[in-house]
Amino acid sequence: MIKTIGILTSGGDAPGMNAAIRAITRSAIANGFNVKGIYRGFDGLINGEIKTFTTESVSNIISRGGTILKTARSNEFTTPEGRLKAFKHMQEEGIDALCVIGGNGSLTGAKVFAEEFSIPCIGLPGTIDNDLDGTDFTIGYDTTLNTIMECVDKIRDTATSHERIFFIEVMGRDAGYLAQNSAIAAGAEAAIIPEDQTDADQLEQYIGRGIRKSKNSSIVIVSESPKCGAMYYAERVKKEYPEYDVRVSILGHLQRGGTPSAHDRILASRLGAGAIQALLEGQRNVMIGIKNGEIVYVPFTKAIQGQKAFDKSLIKVLDELSI
Ligand code: F6P
Repeated sequence: MIKTIGILTSGGDAPGMNAAIRAITRSAIANGFNVKGIYRGFDGLINGEIKTFTTESVSNIISRGGTILKTARSNEFTTPEGRLKAFKHMQEEGIDALCVIGGNGSLTGAKVFAEEFSIPCIGLPGTIDNDLDGTDFTIGYDTTLNTIMECVDKIRDTATSHERIFFIEVMGRDAGYLAQNSAIAAGAEAAIIPEDQTDADQLEQYIGRGIRKSKNSSIVIVSESPKCGAMYYAERVKKEYPEYDVRVSILGHLQRGGTPSAHDRILASRLGAGAIQALLEGQRNVMIGIKNGEIVYVPFTKAIQGQKAFDKSLIKVLDELSI
């Protein structure tokens, strides 16, 4: 019998996390549950940083980026000792179920914890990367996409004026959703993404399309990568095609900030209410996702397997439209 639900945000923050905290809190209270907010992710559970939440605790946060609960990537929670401390705090606080808002690493932690101590645990996909399987969208992805698009629009002005090639590096961890779709949205000439790793050199393909013959500037969006990010490609162009004037812009953490878009607020609100509905239905260890506009329950094992299919038709769309 669940009486009290704990909420935490974990991993990289994402715009819309506050809307999700609000939705879980209000929906839980509306359905007769008590709510406790856990601060600083799983570290807060280990250290007992927990406060009782009322409906007022989440007033005026739907429009704010970041997370009022703070967030962290907890090393201690990866150890059995750390998880035992966390479990003890849950018992002391009378928390009988957990809602975890986060990305792949956070939901992996939630899965291990839930299985170890038989805790009802519900995940919400909260990451700008959109890399969780079983959901079409994750909380934060749409806002970040819009932020990148606005930045690229601005860079285009100076790229055009100076007739330069710009390599713009965007986040996404190992996934190219942000890069590919921001390239389409901003009318970029190319995107270099991890999902398009074939034998063909993506830079050669792009240059080979004769991009500079017909245009006086060009923009290439590059997915972040420790070895071959925007700097790598810019250096190569400088060496291999010295006739081109090249610049790099690494957008960095500004991509994670800002007021959440309407899409992210609505998504987070629906997923938050969906999390409470799932608990009422007796669901355990699932992520609440959205597929074709409908709320779905995705087992943690599927959500975190890292095999979200990339829609290759997006690559064709960009290629065709950038001629
Ligand atoms: O997972 C979200 C994300 O923003 C990734 O896109 C990025 O690789 C990473 O987090 C950056 O993490 P940090 O904020 O720890 O530098």
